[in-house]
Amino acid sequence: MVSYKELGLVNTREMFAKAVDGGYAIPAFNFNNMEQLQAIIQAAAETKSPVILQVSKGARNYANATLLRYMAEGAVAYAKELGWANPQICLHLDHGDSFETCKSCVDTGFSSVMIDASSLPYEENIALTKKVVEYAHQYDVTVEAELGVLAGVEDEVSAAESHYTKPEEVIDFATRTGCDSLAISIGTSHGAYKFTPEQCTRDPKTGRLVPPPLAFDVLHEIEKKLPGFPIVLHGSSSVPQEYVDMCNQYGGDLPNAVGIPEEQLREASKSAVCKINIDSDSRLAMTGAIRKYLAEHPSHFDPRQYLKPAREEMKKMYIHKIVNVLGSDGKAE
Ligand code: G3H
Ligand code: 13P
Ligand code: ZN
Repeated sequence: MVSYKELGLVNTREMFAKAVDGGYAIPAFNFNNMEQLQAIIQAAAETKSPVILQVSKGARNYANATLLRYMAEGAVAYAKELGWANPQICLHLDHGDSFETCKSCVDTGFSSVMIDASSLPYEENIALTKKVVEYAHQYDVTVEAELGVLAGVEDEVSAAESHYTKPEEVIDFATRTGCDSLAISIGTSHGAYKFTPEQCTRDPKTGRLVPPPLAFDVLHEIEKKLPGFPIVLHGSSSVPQEYVDMCNQYGGDLPNAVGIPEEQLREASKSAVCKINIDSDSRLAMTGAIRKYLAEHPSHFDPRQYLKPAREEMKKMYIHKIVNVLGSDGKAE
């Protein structure tokens, strides 16, 4: 048993309480490799922003679960070395799909876990979430649950169309499960293709796709039912068109990629939404930068040469999200 407290990590309880009170959101960035982790920590340390490092089941399979845990421990030391005296870093399991996966993370140093039982029938979602909460809380590990189904692919759970969270269920769900935060469905979805062109309009000047707005009415209903309760938004990449263009210009093929407009994420951050998940934007920044570098330097073959600009591009993107979208800068001085 390794406690996250020994690793210098924190759970989400205080982070979320302050974020809800302060009208900002905590960034939850996924990582699978060293360059992403370096960029996240550099961005958080420079802006003094609390940060959630997210590890998915796919990341655990790709990078090795043990190695990821040591990388997170190293991240705390690295943050201090960068001059961040009291780093507020949470290590979180993203989309945990079973009690066993959540338990294994609690036992190996994660400070927060998500149990995503949103594809199960309501009562089964409650039963599994409650079981995870009862285990995790013994070790002061916080638990995120999900109610409602996002459009697109949720790891291995696919949903043909989105089912918004039903506001009339949230009080019963939060009370009976004891979860610490709740991921809801209000129109966001995972990946770089969040809406079909048919669901969007087109900006007459740029020709770019303009997606339909998020269901803020559903969010406000939920907030009224659970005042001050931490709400989480998954699938919140904005799919910056500069990175889509960079990918496409240098050999990529990402037609009609579209995300959630940042103004809407900024608006959500001011509400009870206190955790915003971003993964695809980091993938786009990294891939765009690598494609560009390799196209411009065909004779280079040292991975450090192309991973350095990729890391810089991701760091720039993370800082932009923290400062201009979520408003979490300076909240972990
Ligand atoms: O919500 C999904 C995250 O973007 C993680 O994706 O399962 O491909 O690592 P992944
Ligand atoms: P994006 O695909 O929009 O980055 O969402 C990531 C996410 O929700 C991770 O859980
Ligand atoms: Zn997600």
